[in-house]
Amino acid sequence: MTAQRIDGKLLAAGIKARVRQQADALRAAGIRPCLAVVLVGENPASAVYVAGKERDCAECGIESRLVRLPEDTTQSHLLGALAELAADPSVHGILVQLPLPAQIDPQQVIAAIPPEKDVDGFTPVNMGRLLLGQPCFVPCTPAGCLAMLQSTGLPIAGKRAVVVGRSNIVGKPMAALLLAQNATVTVCHSHTEGLAAICAGADILVAAVGRPGFITEEMIRPGAVVLDVGINRGPDGRLCGDLDAPAAQKAAFYTPVPGGVGLMTRAMLMQNTLKAAAAQKGGAEPL
Ligand code: GUN
Repeated sequence: MTAQRIDGKLLAAGIKARVRQQADALRAAGIRPCLAVVLVGENPASAVYVAGKERDCAECGIESRLVRLPEDTTQSHLLGALAELAADPSVHGILVQLPLPAQIDPQQVIAAIPPEKDVDGFTPVNMGRLLLGQPCFVPCTPAGCLAMLQSTGLPIAGKRAVVVGRSNIVGKPMAALLLAQNATVTVCHSHTEGLAAICAGADILVAAVGRPGFITEEMIRPGAVVLDVGINRGPDGRLCGDLDAPAAQKAAFYTPVPGGVGLMTRAMLMQNTLKAAAAQKGGAEPL
């Protein structure tokens, strides 16, 4: 059996085209969907990600508003900037690019975003709603992974899903999403004993480790679907995921890096922003 690549570029293009149509319809009704992105400091990777989000907004007919703050911004100054965006009815989505400089407490900052503008799905309210199975903004990377998994047409209910990584932005919400799809979910992390054997039993494997080549061939069950969330620089300087090449070939389906989960994360942010704009005008499905 040959491994099939799940084409993130194609799937993301389809999602963004639908967002564009809906954004055009909203604009015709007098609503200009708008995403505010807050970038604090000079992290070069964050600057690249934020530029990508601005391009996506332009493509999707969404206005983007960049709020740039210096590296030495205080917590109270940042909270003040967020309060302004929260109160501004022309801003529908707010995203604070992470990581933040060390003097800032990210949890307090995230909690200051109104849940109805929290297009990252990171606030305690949206995370709680996700766990409770209530309507919410779903964090973009796990939402993108689920869409890629669903694109294979394979069943999820009853399958063994293993998530490697327990971060607040990927591992934990990914586990909640898979559980909501009736998968049997195991979450592994740096303290997990017998990691390779657990992974080798997975029908669905989500790798969110951040180490190139971490997932090797013996960790893949033949026929598994492998979703590679890693965005790493390999020894040759090239972008690569957590999965090594022979491991990908052993899977039934796998997501490539680049051209996989990263593009879907960006598309889901556009979808969440559109949903926020529509909901705030009372014209959309409730959150
Ligand atoms: N930094 C890396 N990934 C993300 C993300 O999905 N959202 C935000 N706000 N910051 C990030």
